[in-house]
Amino acid sequence: MTRQTVQFENKVALKGLGLGIMATAKTLSDFEKASIEQSVLCDDLERIADALPDDVDRGLALRVAEKISIVLDRAHDLEENEVFPILEARAHESALVQTALNRFRNEHQQDACFAEEVREALIEFATGTRAMAPDALGYMLRGFFVSLRRHISVEREMVDLVLA
Ligand SMILES: [Fe+2]
Repeated sequence: MTRQTVQFENKVALKGLGLGIMATAKTLSDFEKASIEQSVLCDDLERIADALPDDVDRGLALRVAEKISIVLDRAHDLEENEVFPILEARAHESALVQTALNRFRNEHQQDACFAEEVREALIEFATGTRAMAPDALGYMLRGFFVSLRRHISVEREMVDLVLA
């Protein structure tokens, strides 16, 4: 291999490495934004649950109903298609990481189904049609946001741990 060829190969390798690092930084920044967006959703749901039965901002309930599945779908897409592959590439021999990622994927499916139920319950409550009892709605909302907060927290810890 000539000296020029070696220099060229090194440049290509460095360029590839640079792009990889940039892509990772962009993905992590998007992951951070998606985590914050989900946390804001949890805070809104807690505000609604705390205001039950009589002081609920029905406009807020409808806005949350409108965005709940969009926010979750966006986060799940990003995590499963961009973030988890980075973790798998960095820790492909770790059974702990693989187990955690499988758990996160299962939780995404459960949360997506649960989010649909929460969406319908919020719309029914806000519009007064077939609304469930306030206690039952409060129980449902708390079950959702407590579980989602735990998921977000464990997922972020895993990302920090693997990419530290
Ligand atoms: Fe997640």
